Amino acid sequence: MIEIMPIWDYSKNTPLYVQLYEYIKNEIQIGTIKPETKLPSKRKLATYLGISQNTIKTAYEQLCAEGYTESKPRVGVFVTKIEDNLLCNLPLIDKHDKNTKFKDNNDNFKCLIDFRSGNVDLNNFPYSTWRKLTNKCLYSEQSNLLLVGEPQGERSLRREISKYLFQSRSVRCTPEQIIIGAGTQYLIILLCMLLGKDYPYAIENPGYNRVRTVFKDQGIDIHPISIDKDGICINDLKKSSARVVYVTPSHQFPYGMIMPISRRLELLKWCEEKNGYIIEDDYDSEFRYKGKPVPSLQGLDRSENVIYMGTFSKSLIPSIRISYLVLPPKLIRKYQEHFKIYKQTVSRLHQNTLYIFMKEGYLSRHINKMRTLYRKKHEILLSAIDKYMKGKVEIIGSESGLHILLKVKNGMTEHELIQSAHKMKVKVYPTSIHYDQCVSNEFPMILLGFGGLTEIQIEEGIQILKKAWLI
Ligand SMILES: Cc1ncc(COP(=O)(O)O)c(C=O)c1O
Repeated sequence: MIEIMPIWDYSKNTPLYVQLYEYIKNEIQIGTIKPETKLPSKRKLATYLGISQNTIKTAYEQLCAEGYTESKPRVGVFVTKIEDNLLCNLPLIDKHDKNTKFKDNNDNFKCLIDFRSGNVDLNNFPYSTWRKLTNKCLYSEQSNLLLVGEPQGERSLRREISKYLFQSRSVRCTPEQIIIGAGTQYLIILLCMLLGKDYPYAIENPGYNRVRTVFKDQGIDIHPISIDKDGICINDLKKSSARVVYVTPSHQFPYGMIMPISRRLELLKWCEEKNGYIIEDDYDSEFRYKGKPVPSLQGLDRSENVIYMGTFSKSLIPSIRISYLVLPPKLIRKYQEHFKIYKQTVSRLHQNTLYIFMKEGYLSRHINKMRTLYRKKHEILLSAIDKYMKGKVEIIGSESGLHILLKVKNGMTEHELIQSAHKMKVKVYPTSIHYDQCVSNEFPMILLGFGGLTEIQIEEGIQILKKAWLI
């Protein structure tokens, strides 16, 4: 009998038949098991390896199905003759295995408290309502939901989004102007295709690094524009040759300032004169803790120059991956002529569940509840910082949203601040990555998201940071 000696790896969850099949396939590919060799009978190999005949049978069937072996009735299973020069082009399983063992970015670090700004409160997610509404979408009368839907997204959901945007953000649009997509980055890629790459795009500096990366990867010439206390600097914008600008006017990311009306009007005027476009990313304006929510730029625009973007990642949950664009009419025409070929990226089941969730008023109730909860967490964060770190830090951007910046004045670098917190199992995040180029701020700034933490964790986290940072 030829030697078949796989080394079982019980630490993997891979079934034995898969391990045996991969072993034999590899041996055939590297020529250890020669063409036309007869493989041992199932019974013999099962006894030899101490495993069931069924395991051998399934592995052999898979090899036959893929053409590595042929089964001759009542004679046995034989290795197929494949030309050597074709075989050597195949990736070897061993080699393949090694190559696919990439380093896991989520190192083994188990943190106690994670101040990640993308996290939201999960304890108050309306699990049972969401389950009930998902079930509603799964009845056979609605079996069409199991097929691919409209490229722009479900019309019913777009209708609800347009109503919601008008009431809460003063955005004026019809459902036809809305394009749903799986996340802000995907929608930015779509926008790059729609707007073209012939002229530079301006971005806030600092600004959201994930969007900057998409622009770069799309081959866009980027012009970083500095910000002041009111947001993007219009004079610097005028000096650049950009015709498209990406901004976060309702809660500048990461600084958190709100663009006042005078700056908004200046920005709109710049855009009109340039015959350009403003991409308004309104990612978390639902959570404003002082005063009234600020109406959107889109609502002030009379020249069809503003592209509005929104997301349910903060107002509901980030894993749902439902974000959307509101395009001005001239761009929606272009989209419909050239880009409807791209299929919708969000599951119809999620879209329809969200549609009912909005239509039956659950979303507004959820946002109102979360606003109160986040306001409380926000207060606890600010008062813990005041209590434990007074005089040693400065808080930036404390009026809205789910994160703040902390300017730390203890002499440590940003890297040292993050590492020392890490050692005490608290995860905090850099601000420097949101700058276009390395900056040497007088004091480093740390980004603290609080949405996903409990009130107790927030207070504890700040106490630990005080110790880690020796302040
Ligand atoms: C500035 C900014 N825009 C948009 C988003 C939302 O991204 P997505 O819609 O891909 O979840 C975030 C989320 O953290 C953000 O910080």
